[in-house]
Amino acid sequence: MGIISRIAAVAIAVSMVVTTGCRGGMHTGKGGAAAGSVPITVSDETVEVEGIDEPFEIFFLADSHISLCDDRDEELALKANGRSILFKEDGIEAWDRFDALIDAANAGDSDLVILGGDIIDSAMYASVDHVKEKLATLNKPYVYLMGNHDFEYGTEYFSDKAYETYLPRLDEMRDGTDYQIREYEDIIIFTADESNNRITPEVLTAFKETVQKDKPVILALHVPIEPVTGSESLIEESREFFGMQDDVIPVFFGEHGCTPDNTTREFIDMVLSDESPVALVLAGHIHFYHKEMLNERILQIITGAAYTGAALNIKLIPKEEGE
Ligand SMILES: [Fe+2]
Repeated sequence: MGIISRIAAVAIAVSMVVTTGCRGGMHTGKGGAAAGSVPITVSDETVEVEGIDEPFEIFFLADSHISLCDDRDEELALKANGRSILFKEDGIEAWDRFDALIDAANAGDSDLVILGGDIIDSAMYASVDHVKEKLATLNKPYVYLMGNHDFEYGTEYFSDKAYETYLPRLDEMRDGTDYQIREYEDIIIFTADESNNRITPEVLTAFKETVQKDKPVILALHVPIEPVTGSESLIEESREFFGMQDDVIPVFFGEHGCTPDNTTREFIDMVLSDESPVALVLAGHIHFYHKEMLNERILQIITGAAYTGAALNIKLIPKEEGE
């Protein structure tokens, strides 16, 4: 179930308390940080992409883990309280970091904002409303892909009830499919939702159609992909960050991570194949920044967590002839 990590361990512990009974009076509420007082770190990245004629800019954030709860979700009050403390970094609330990052996106020149999952930590109305209201101030188009926490609810985690009852609370910010495609004149942005460490057949089918279009593709996922270069730096850094000694670290897709099912394996093989039009993979989930080639040709950039103030501003520029 999701990341087996110190973070998940806390989540599980808090969930267990919730199931044994919780009460009101512990709702997480907004204090509201003063505008401009919230520190953020937006990393500027420049990536050359073969086949584009014009620069294209993406603002990418993930893992703000907003846990706002009110009377409408009283049964989650205790869990929300614990989670909001967990993701309050240096005394700053997760929702204030999110707001500051959206303000930064507004002030920048990006063509598209991608919300890379775990923006919300459980689909509580107060959290959904906060994100919806802030996104209404965004002066740029955005795509919101699902992480593993956005539509969980109490013990409902990728369950039928989570999909049927809680995911629809986020409907206004997505289009009801497991993937979203933004096609421009010379580039395609393809985002895939997280589905319990799997890619769904629906996503695979859409991706197969997308790669036929003969345009460079930028792929955004919540869970990163393990490089196939022989490098172990993602494995080592993950071990260190999550305090694990295990051979398998289930925070990315791959041999040393979550073993892909057949559909996910086929998807990853397509992404990494010689014929793949994927020029760049963007991901989150692990909560620390990591930038590395997945194979000889495809770069992956993983953003640090938005609850720490981290985000990426990626400038895609045309690749010069002969490089
Ligand atoms: Fe995640």
